[in-house]
Amino acid sequence: PMASFRCSASARSYNITLLPGKQYDEPLSPSTTGVELRFQEKLMGGSALDATGVPLPEETLAAARDSDAVLLGAIGGYKWDNNEKHLKPETGLLQLRAGLGVFANLRPAAVLPQLVDASTLKREVAEGVDIMVVRELTGGIYFGKPRGFGTNDKGEDTGFNTEIYSVPEIDRIARVAIEVARKRRGKLCSVDKANVLEASMLWRKRVTALASEFPDIELSHMYVDNAAMQLIRNPKQFDTIVTNNIFGDILSDEASMITGSIGMLPSASVGESGPGLFEPIHGSAPDIAGQDKANPLATILSAAMLLRYGLGEENAAKRIEAAVIETLNHGFRTGDIYSPGTTLVGCKRMGEEVLKTVESQKAVA
Ligand code: IPM
Ligand code: MN
Repeated sequence: PMASFRCSASARSYNITLLPGKQYDEPLSPSTTGVELRFQEKLMGGSALDATGVPLPEETLAAARDSDAVLLGAIGGYKWDNNEKHLKPETGLLQLRAGLGVFANLRPAAVLPQLVDASTLKREVAEGVDIMVVRELTGGIYFGKPRGFGTNDKGEDTGFNTEIYSVPEIDRIARVAIEVARKRRGKLCSVDKANVLEASMLWRKRVTALASEFPDIELSHMYVDNAAMQLIRNPKQFDTIVTNNIFGDILSDEASMITGSIGMLPSASVGESGPGLFEPIHGSAPDIAGQDKANPLATILSAAMLLRYGLGEENAAKRIEAAVIETLNHGFRTGDIYSPGTTLVGCKRMGEEVLKTVESQKAVA
């Protein structure tokens, strides 16, 4: 299910309704907390398929479009895995991204000091890694035409897809990546396969042209196979990575593992206008469904990205992030990030601990 919400017109009031039903007796500084949020929940993915027969009902897309930001839980499950393509939960997600025009997907992968030991990489390799993958999200081979099933001239059955990018599509994602890199450490690595693919040759040319207008940007290019290797060999060399839809899909999963668990990582998808889409980068983990084992932190951190990139509420975003860090400092860990000496908790308890921590920030706000 998906919760989409619209920011109230009187957004700078003193009521926080992130924790529904909770009354705050002291007024809080609007610069820190004055965000009032109204929630509505809509179906998509498997739940929508079961209820309506389609993975993204019109009504859901309309409601999402009409809101200020969209927070999405993970989708997918065994039950729908063998559905025809247009009836897969994943298709609903692609329709939602396209329908909202959210072409820029920001996927941070930062190794928290508290979780260095959860990384599969050696401490000295993982420690201090702080990467932002900027993935193009509404173009490339995911959407390119022609696509389909056919037969070749030998009469053999084929499946085919098209990797295609237009100059405006490359330019707009390059601009987002440059902006992101300038707010970070100014290093931008564009990942492509320009030694083989025409779409990548054009990509490289445009990224080079656009970045040359920014003397404070240190631009480099890397082939995707090498980038996959470098991410494991020496991830600290990366700051911001910009890449196409499919390479970004693959590399962001890889980058996530450096941090210890994909269960920690949020994402933000934004377009030129309209609401952004915020979702954890992990899937629905159907193998542990209903067992209270999943790590809720990626979704909680996605809500922080929603506040920052979707609503411009930087302080509110920081409060959530600080609460997550503090909860980790208290030693609470779900199974995916557990290490000896920490306290193993379930999904629900982890969420409660973060809530408790957010509430306790009242005193310092
Ligand atoms: C992701 C997912 C999706 C993608 C799938 C579920 C369609 O893997 O968000 O990374 O490939 O984009
Ligand atoms: Mn993926």
